[in-house]
Amino acid sequence: TVIDSFSKKLIAWHAQSGRSGLPWQGNRDPYAVWVSEIMLQQTQVATVLERYPRFMKRFPTVKKLAAADVDDVLAEWAGLGYYSRARNLHACAQQIVREFAGKFPQDPALLEQLKGIGRSTAGAIAAFAFHERAPILDANVKRILARLFAIEGAIQDKAVNDSLWKLATELLPLKPQDMPTYTQALMDFGATWCTSRKPVCLSGEKKCPFAKDCQANLSDQVLALPKKVIK
Ligand code: ADE
Repeated sequence: TVIDSFSKKLIAWHAQSGRSGLPWQGNRDPYAVWVSEIMLQQTQVATVLERYPRFMKRFPTVKKLAAADVDDVLAEWAGLGYYSRARNLHACAQQIVREFAGKFPQDPALLEQLKGIGRSTAGAIAAFAFHERAPILDANVKRILARLFAIEGAIQDKAVNDSLWKLATELLPLKPQDMPTYTQALMDFGATWCTSRKPVCLSGEKKCPFAKDCQANLSDQVLALPKKVIK
C-alpha cells in the first residue's frame, strides 16, 4: 500500500529532484535548525539564503541570542517581515536558557511549548536535529496528503486536521536516520512538484512517483483538493 512505500519513494525522489546543499541542511545543531525553520516559515528560500548566514554570525548560539537586546534582534531581522517571529525568537531563546539550561529539548511535545514553535515546526526541529520520528504538517504537506488520500473535508475542519496528523505519523520512515532527508523531501515535494496550481501530474510529463497511489490523481480531483472553505 501507499503507507508502506511512501517514505522510500519520497526519499528516492529527493535524491533526484529535491533541494540540496542549503546551508541549514545536514546541520544537527538544534539552534541552527530552529533559526532556519523560523526564517523559512514566511520568507522565500532565496531571501533566507542571503540573510541566514549573517544572522548566525551575529547570534551564533542560543545563549548569545538570549543575552542580546531585543531591539538588536529586530534590527537584524529588518526586511524579513513578520517581526513577531523575531520577538518570539528572542523570547524563546530566553526560555531555553532559563528553563532548559541552554539546551534545546529533543521531545517535540516539549519543543511545541516554546514561544513561536507550533506543532509542525516542533516536528521539523525534532526530525532535523534529533532524528526523532516526529511528523510535520504545514500547508504543503496538508496538500500532499489531502490529494494522496482524496480527503474531501475542509482543511480547517478539526476532524480533518486530526486525520491528516494521523496519516502524517503513519507515513513516517521506520528508520530514525532517514528522518532529516524524509522531512526535507516532503517540504520540497510540496513546494516544487505537488503545487497548488501547477502540479507536475497535470503537466503531461507523467513523472510523479505517486501518480498511481494518488487518489486525487486517479479520480481527476487534483486541482480541487485540498478543499479551501470560504469562511
Ligand atoms: N520551509 C520551511 N522549512 C523549510 C526547509 N527546511 N527547506 C525549505 N523550505 C522550508
